[in-house]
Amino acid sequence: MSLSPQFLDELRARTLLSSVISKQVKLLRAGREWKACCPFHKEKTPSFTVNDDKGFYHCFGCGAHGDAIRFLTDAQGLPFMDAVKELADKAGMEVPAADPRAREKADKAAGLYDVMAAAARWFEEQLDGIDGADARDYLKRRGITEKTKARFNFGFAPDSRSKLKTALKEFGVEKLVECGLLIQPEETGKEPYDRFRGRLMIPIRDPRGRVIAFGGRILGDGEPKYLNSPETPLFDKGRTLYNLDRASPASRDAKRVVVVEGYLDVIALDQAGIGEGVAPLGTALTEGQLERLWRLSPTPLLCFDGDAAGQKAAVRAALRALPHVGPGRSLGFVTLPAGQDPDDLIRAKGRGALEELLGNPESLVDRLWRHESAAEPLDTPERKAGLKRRLLDHVGSIADPDVRDQYRSALMDRFYALIRPPRREWVPNRPVRGQSFQRFAPPRPASAEAKAVGARGLAPHEMRAVLAGLLRFPGAIAPHAEAVAALPMGDAGAARLRDAMVDAALMHGELDQERLNTILADEGVAALVEQLRLQKGLGFSFTRRAADPERAFRDLVLVIETLAARPALDAAFEAATARLKEDGNEDAFAEQQRLRAARDEADRRLAALMESDADQPSS
Ligand code: UTP
Ligand code: MN
Repeated sequence: MSLSPQFLDELRARTLLSSVISKQVKLLRAGREWKACCPFHKEKTPSFTVNDDKGFYHCFGCGAHGDAIRFLTDAQGLPFMDAVKELADKAGMEVPAADPRAREKADKAAGLYDVMAAAARWFEEQLDGIDGADARDYLKRRGITEKTKARFNFGFAPDSRSKLKTALKEFGVEKLVECGLLIQPEETGKEPYDRFRGRLMIPIRDPRGRVIAFGGRILGDGEPKYLNSPETPLFDKGRTLYNLDRASPASRDAKRVVVVEGYLDVIALDQAGIGEGVAPLGTALTEGQLERLWRLSPTPLLCFDGDAAGQKAAVRAALRALPHVGPGRSLGFVTLPAGQDPDDLIRAKGRGALEELLGNPESLVDRLWRHESAAEPLDTPERKAGLKRRLLDHVGSIADPDVRDQYRSALMDRFYALIRPPRREWVPNRPVRGQSFQRFAPPRPASAEAKAVGARGLAPHEMRAVLAGLLRFPGAIAPHAEAVAALPMGDAGAARLRDAMVDAALMHGELDQERLNTILADEGVAALVEQLRLQKGLGFSFTRRAADPERAFRDLVLVIETLAARPALDAAFEAATARLKEDGNEDAFAEQQRLRAARDEADRRLAALMESDADQPSS
């Protein structure tokens, strides 16, 4: 039976959630909310909150989240209708009689589940039969074990237009068409035929574990690589997440949920012992899917390929999530090396390599900032204003006022730090070409603290690569002058060249390569420039002639910002470690861990920028 949304809203509005929950859990007042030890997981300090105004409970420990109906179904195990009846009785409401059309629809759907289950069984049999030999080989080649094959009910659709139709004829052709197992040609008089032919079959289950669709993968190359069931009364692609039925319970133990791009990635994760993986079905994440994910974890981890398509998908998900973020509702981003999906990574380097990435996700605000700040060079007032506008538009899309304020200040701080001219003193200087002007003092040396604790200066190859990059892309100097000036150059000649470049850019504004060359020659650093130009194999996109200039520019800015921030980060980490040794309380530990993660993330980003280049032809 289906109840109207209006009825359910009315029921929720008339129900005091805390009175429902307090029957089972001892609630403590906490401001406008209630707190308790969570009934859904074991804990000693309360992280379960109940908000009567909103009619929702939420556990910050295990992510349990829902309304009064859900509490009765999940905590007390009542069937949905019983929960509704119980609440309606208390609220003095009449549960409407079943709508006959809805009833009919539900009955019809019930029949279709049987068809899908039978089809799944039949595909499994085919995989184990003579027709399935190639598909079995394929699974072996992909490293899918017998156990995984059975656990995910892999099957095989033989290369035939009628075998399934014949095998399942007892259900009637009409139902097979309705389930999407047969295709009914448009032209009248033509016979329906099997949709899936010569494909490895992966059943897609709903949250209750019932088969509602299939994904069919071609064996080897060919188009399309995956064929999915069409939308049917059972299958709504935009609401379905592959493996949600198993990932839900697994996510409670693991305290996280991992979203990957493909179902074979989910399966590879599971085989490696990570059961809390889900995937959308070849479409961008929808709001409905995000809502489902937030019921499992406050920070679902999106683990997408580092290539352009994967990163575009990640940003799209970020933008779609923004309006709905709130305290305890965000996203984490894990960027895989370009061209590798989780399945590839696990096969190449094992579970540990993936866990390392998953343990260190980028926050939603960081991901947004990274995307927008690197979108284009900030070399004109218009582009700077454009960046500010885009950031504020994103901020404006956030519905929660507190989170919106936080995002606004976080993003604007970064924006102004990025475009603000360097904080350095003016000192008078010799006139050049008859013109009188002032020039910047040399950059401040790294702070005494940073030095004392052994912060790292740039490695020689980093130093050479950045300088060579700036010579090729002088447009990057002015907008990032502060970061460039702060780079800890360990070499006097390199520092001199860097200073000359910063001064030139700040004095002359937009510089092209030639102009910069002339100025540098005047400054007497031409020999160093020449050396750098001839240097090969520095390993970044911006030191390689054949690289895509836009990407090279972006990478260069990213490397500079990361390297410039490193000494302070190192120093803070060392200081936190020292504090932790002195009095090892929980806060000091958390702080040290946070800094370690930030530092590791910076290192990883640098390594990725170099590695991602390693497989490209060098000039
Ligand atoms: P990918 O092309 O990234 O596939 O598609 P994959 O997961 O790495 O698969 P293998 O390792 O090559 O076998 C990711 C997801 O996009 C959808 C599917 O849901 C797939 O799991 N997709 C992809 C389609 O629906 N159709 C396609 O033709 C390709
Ligand atoms: Mn793959």
